[in-house]
Amino acid sequence: MEGAIRPWRRSDSADLAAAVNNRNVLDNLRDGLPYPYTGKDALQYIESVLSAPPDSVFAFAIALDGRAVGSIGITRCGNIHRRTAELGYYVAEPYWGLGLATRAVCELCEYVFANSDIIRIFAEPFARNAASRRVLEKSGFRLEGILRANAFKNGEVLDMCMYSLLRPEGI
Ligand SMILES: CC(C)(COP(=O)(O)OP(=O)(O)OC[C@H]1O[C@@H](n2cnc3c(N)ncnc32)[C@H](O)[C@@H]1OP(=O)(O)O)[C@@H](O)C(=O)NCCC(=O)NCCS
Repeated sequence: MEGAIRPWRRSDSADLAAAVNNRNVLDNLRDGLPYPYTGKDALQYIESVLSAPPDSVFAFAIALDGRAVGSIGITRCGNIHRRTAELGYYVAEPYWGLGLATRAVCELCEYVFANSDIIRIFAEPFARNAASRRVLEKSGFRLEGILRANAFKNGEVLDMCMYSLLRPEGI
């Protein structure tokens, strides 16, 4: 089977904009992305990823039949957390439920452990984001705890979850 992730291309900007320009996606992410999210915003993101330090930002398109239908990234933290990194992802709504996010998470974590000194990858979904929690659980992440009242999103105080995956022995 073809891999679920591939490098970003500038020509993906319209597909990326279509994926992000959706409240059902944005409502599950951190704030900061513009809404509406234009092709220009998408191109700016792709340019930023292509010029980011390759040992700190591992960002890829989630692809189906070659077409970008989502986004995934692992970003190294700083200071004493410099060997830990945060995972984030989303899939365009028409492609939910096909197993794409799970495949992408597994592929990217394997890639990052094999190609960097990172020892811990974590993700912080909203506690009510059952689909994302399931993706993490299917990908081998462990729930470490509930971060109570850890976010203020769209006027609501929300719990979040701390999930992590550690570098496998021997890698
Ligand atoms: C979360 C998201 C990335 C999942 O992508 P996806 O490609 O559909 O994920 P997968 O198909 O690999 O797996 C989804 C799993 O969640 C399950 N699921 C979906 N909705 C669910 C719900 N409401 N309750 C419980 N489980 C649910 C699916 O059944 C599937 O599990 P299964 O294989 O055991 O049946 C996608 O829904 C999305 O982009 N959401 C908006 C952005 C987001 O939440 N990003 C993550 C931020 S932490």
